[in-house]
Amino acid sequence: MTSLTIKRPDDWHLHLRDGDALRAVLPFTAARFARAIVMPNLKPPVTNSEQALAYRRRILDALPAGMKFEPLMTLYLTDNTYPTEVDRAKASGCVHGFKLYPAGATTNSDSGVTDIRRIEPVLARMSELGMILQVHGEVTDPNVDVFDREARFIDGVLAQTVERFGELRIVFEHITTRAAAQFVLNARPGVAATITPQHLLMNRNALFTGGIRPHHYCLPVLKSESDRRALLEVVASGNPRFFLGTDSAPHARHTKENACGCAGIFSSHAGIELYAEAFEAVGALQRLEGFASEFGADFYGLPQNEARITLVKEAWDVPAHYPFGSDELVPLSAGERISWRLKN
Ligand code: NCD
Ligand code: ZN
Repeated sequence: MTSLTIKRPDDWHLHLRDGDALRAVLPFTAARFARAIVMPNLKPPVTNSEQALAYRRRILDALPAGMKFEPLMTLYLTDNTYPTEVDRAKASGCVHGFKLYPAGATTNSDSGVTDIRRIEPVLARMSELGMILQVHGEVTDPNVDVFDREARFIDGVLAQTVERFGELRIVFEHITTRAAAQFVLNARPGVAATITPQHLLMNRNALFTGGIRPHHYCLPVLKSESDRRALLEVVASGNPRFFLGTDSAPHARHTKENACGCAGIFSSHAGIELYAEAFEAVGALQRLEGFASEFGADFYGLPQNEARITLVKEAWDVPAHYPFGSDELVPLSAGERISWRLKN
């Protein structure tokens, strides 16, 4: 296959940041994706509908003239989120979910939820109003091995939540393990997962190839080859419970190339092309459209996009870095060759 035309995709998990950083990264997403669920882990976090509407406006204002893109907002759950916020979010028409960050699990998650029992009334109201819960699925206990934190979250938190709130629609975000893929496969209806390009393309060896590689560090951290194979199997099977969420998470170069480097991989510069590479590697290019452009919209109850994009098999070299305000941004596959290119 040398050319592939699919419905315009959506990104169901994206970090756009704010200000100069937002202006630097937004055009990459808007060139490829029609819509994205925009993560709320700003400083301070986006915790209510007024803040989400203001952030949405800033995103639209940052969009270059002539580009079309629809930001879909989600609110950051804290111990102090009240059920009435769910009603306000629903009424806003622009908020499509609530994001659960276990406190301390990842970048800007300090205001997250310390114990899921604290937000049970909120989850109950979300379930009643059909609002989607997006979950960063890792336990935060520093005594738990960092590679086991996702699996432990399934057994310790997620399984009970799925059963206790039997109608709640849940997206298990950026799954990384065989255990998570199995859990979602066997879960009740209304449970789905997003998968990033890096977790399809790399295993944890990529963190240490020839030395420590801060630009391959994200959370949840890359896992074993067996885990990566399990993710490839579920996407290649065409199961609609699994859909695209890049988790593209830009950080200035110096904050990653640091004695205590930030977690997050920037991938929007090739946000669909990288998935094409991964799908092609397992002979599943014909499954890309469902994963990228259909299953997520269906799960969120939104129409699939009418427009189309075309990918052509023409190699291009990813730059070593992109401008990022007054800093630089090192993208996934920097300095490497990608074999699929987006046709303008
Ligand atoms: C994300 C970020 O930088 O905001 N980082 C990451 O490693 N994925 C936060 C997140 O989604 O966990
Ligand atoms: Zn994320």
